[in-house]
Amino acid sequence: MSNPASPPAVDVLDERPGLTFPPGFLWGAATAAYQIEGAAAVDGRTPSIWDTFSHTEGRVVAGHTGDVACDHYHRLGDDVALMAELGLKSYRFSVSWPRVQPGGTGAANPQGLDFYRRLVDELLANGIEPWLTLYHWDLPQPLEDAGGWPARDTAARFADYTTLLADALGDRVRYWTTLNEPWCSAFLGYGSGVHAPGRTNGADAVRAGHHLMLGHGLSVQALRAARPTAEVGVTVNLYPVDPASDTPADRDAARRIDGLANRFFLDPLLRGSYPEDLVADLRTVTDFGHVRDGDLATISTPLDLVGVNYYSRHVVAAPTEGVATDSAPSCWPGSEDVRFVTRGVPVTDMGWEIDAPGLAETLRRVHDYTDLPLYVTENGSAFVDSVVDGQVDDVDRLAYFDAHLRAAHEAINDGVPLRGYFAWSLMDNFEWAWGYTKRFGMIHVDYDSQVRTPKSSAKWYASVIRRNGLAA
Ligand code: NOJ
Repeated sequence: MSNPASPPAVDVLDERPGLTFPPGFLWGAATAAYQIEGAAAVDGRTPSIWDTFSHTEGRVVAGHTGDVACDHYHRLGDDVALMAELGLKSYRFSVSWPRVQPGGTGAANPQGLDFYRRLVDELLANGIEPWLTLYHWDLPQPLEDAGGWPARDTAARFADYTTLLADALGDRVRYWTTLNEPWCSAFLGYGSGVHAPGRTNGADAVRAGHHLMLGHGLSVQALRAARPTAEVGVTVNLYPVDPASDTPADRDAARRIDGLANRFFLDPLLRGSYPEDLVADLRTVTDFGHVRDGDLATISTPLDLVGVNYYSRHVVAAPTEGVATDSAPSCWPGSEDVRFVTRGVPVTDMGWEIDAPGLAETLRRVHDYTDLPLYVTENGSAFVDSVVDGQVDDVDRLAYFDAHLRAAHEAINDGVPLRGYFAWSLMDNFEWAWGYTKRFGMIHVDYDSQVRTPKSSAKWYASVIRRNGLAA
């Protein structure tokens, strides 16, 4: 077992009832460009903020970079063949902005576009629906040098890039999501600085969050203009936030963190407004002077679907009286003093508590905002894997998927229009600030030889897809 407090062993799963998902349920797996492609300086690609960040000493564990990653750029055919073996109905990937539009402005790079054309054609030839994410964190470095996401102009650049891609791939890609996890781009990238570009300023983080959403709205409009039949959405990462106790102070701490983690995005995107309490909480950080008339209407441009990434739950408590507020850079601007509490339940190798019911809760919550079709665009877990006799028996990961799929099924029974589920991740990859030290894949990657080995979870997931549900 990889963890002191491990989730249930696989024999427990055998005692659980079988479950069938609705016909046509979109079973998929997800990756992201910088995490798997490698080929960082090949065929005209130029640096993104993650190239700069990972090449800066002390930013990524062990100095790992995405220079080679899983070398997917050169192994596209073999990797799609593995997806076909799994029986995937859909594959969610992201496009590297600096590969297709080096520098982030101006003309397209034909070689970069050609890679994605080949990928999409190969997927379609194998009966796998391509699901394209436009922005999975790799902002072209020159756009960061011009101000990055805290600068309003970046939103307009994102819309131009969208048009370029819609023109190039819109004839063969039906599903498009604009942003992946804007909370991470804004609050880890510009607040705590643990993600690229590594800036640490609360006001910049809030501005970045706004301009990411503005870019999203402009991008939706650009897609609609170029490809009226495209199915368009956005992916947000959400957490149930519970108070550690029922005291008013703990409940207020939960309200604050829920505001920053969830409602900061859900309310503007799906209701066209920022929550009043969140704006009040942030008054020491920013006066929201960066929000212009009409922005919220753009941000809430109607969508066709919402993507939800779910990993864990937050449990929080009020600041301890008499203990000085931690002044370290934080991803919770204005609420740095809220304490995050661990409950002693099993955790993954990321230290994230395993909380499958939280997925059902999260889906029901999004459904309270909207009747749009929902998709779990990411869900998965890192565990320490070992290859024994050419096999990786990742029972912990398999149990994690099983439990979360049961929660997803429960949400469907409750009336949530959940239409698909993407496992994170197809294969082990560059886990951002953790480099290659955390493995989320259903397929094991040996980074020296680039040999791929499907783990037990991959074989199990293939059977789930085959029977459109879980076996009894
Ligand atoms: C969310 C991100 O979208 C993905 O890139 C990351 O690897 C996983 N979570 C796991 O942390």
